[in-house]
Amino acid sequence: MSELNPYQGIIVKYSRHLPIDSRFIVSLHEGNTPLLPAPRLAKVLGRGLQLYLKLEGLNPTGSFKDRGMTYALSKAVEARSKAIICASTGNTSASAAAYAARAGIKAYVIIPKGKIALGKLTQALMHGSKVVAIDGNFDEALTIVRRIAEQGLATLVNSINPHRIEGQKTASFEICESLLSESLQGVPTYHSLPVGNAGNITAHWKGYREYYASGVIKSLPKMIGFQAAGAAPIVLGKPVKNPETVASAIRIGNPASWKQAVEACKESGGFIDKVTDREILKAYQMVASLEGYFCEPASAASIAGIIKSAKKGLFKKGDVVVATLTGHGLKDPDTAMKVCNPPVIVKPNFEKVLKVLQL
Ligand code: F0G
Repeated sequence: MSELNPYQGIIVKYSRHLPIDSRFIVSLHEGNTPLLPAPRLAKVLGRGLQLYLKLEGLNPTGSFKDRGMTYALSKAVEARSKAIICASTGNTSASAAAYAARAGIKAYVIIPKGKIALGKLTQALMHGSKVVAIDGNFDEALTIVRRIAEQGLATLVNSINPHRIEGQKTASFEICESLLSESLQGVPTYHSLPVGNAGNITAHWKGYREYYASGVIKSLPKMIGFQAAGAAPIVLGKPVKNPETVASAIRIGNPASWKQAVEACKESGGFIDKVTDREILKAYQMVASLEGYFCEPASAASIAGIIKSAKKGLFKKGDVVVATLTGHGLKDPDTAMKVCNPPVIVKPNFEKVLKVLQL
């Protein structure tokens, strides 16, 4: 470990849980993200909740995907793979492209045309991946990349690749460690996550279970997941053919880890519910304006879900609630600008500026 940079990413930190020959590690020193207390937001929710935000947008490419991608790419390199491929609503492609660049191998990305936030598309292109946009949705893109991978043309790095789940479980390890350091027994009462392809909630539950089995924590959280109302196959109990939501990252109608996510919620005593686009956008603005952290719309589904659940009386006084903010808000400036008032334009004149500022 270098003295200059003691933190070298999740594979080095959690080597016991993520076995690999260190020669093959592909890392951007991801992980180690803050668990930020959110007292102003908690106050709005009432009931004396202790609310924490896990800021996964502060990973190197701006989303939680980097945790899974460092391990998936390292394993691909170990297996001498020369190319990787993924379908994506944006963040997976940004992360896959960046880690492939770092590994010096080729990345192929299939996205739904016109449904990717600009920042994410920019990342995939900047990192040199080959991007194909299909006139269809994420589920159709995933079907195509699965076939390509089955033919042995490239290694699939969507979350059906088990190494992705292994890497992503480390977010739970970090949450436990942060809460233990605050003498909170290391485990939240509830953990809220947005649900798209359902890999992340599956991964988090695996992480908690591993820490429980090894005695680091003495209890388990209830996992609560939230889909967007227009893309809520798990809640409806059947695939959604044409999913629609402002939260483009979770615009998914037939999640690959459907079964595992349902199991995680059931086993933990939690549930999966849905939140409307209006609720998502309200939570999105609340996080930014009350807590000073800018997440992307899909991430805010976790907060919208907590708000909805609080209104239903789910929480008890003193409950510790963690929400994962999965991606950074700067990835999707278009949605942000639609919910904000544009700046007022005035002449470069002192009085006029004062008047507009109402000072
Ligand atoms: N939040 C963000 C910001 C995401 O990008 C995703 C998934 C999720 C939540 C949902 O996580 O799929 O594990 O349930 N994005 C994938 C992608 C689908 O292609 O970037 P999940």
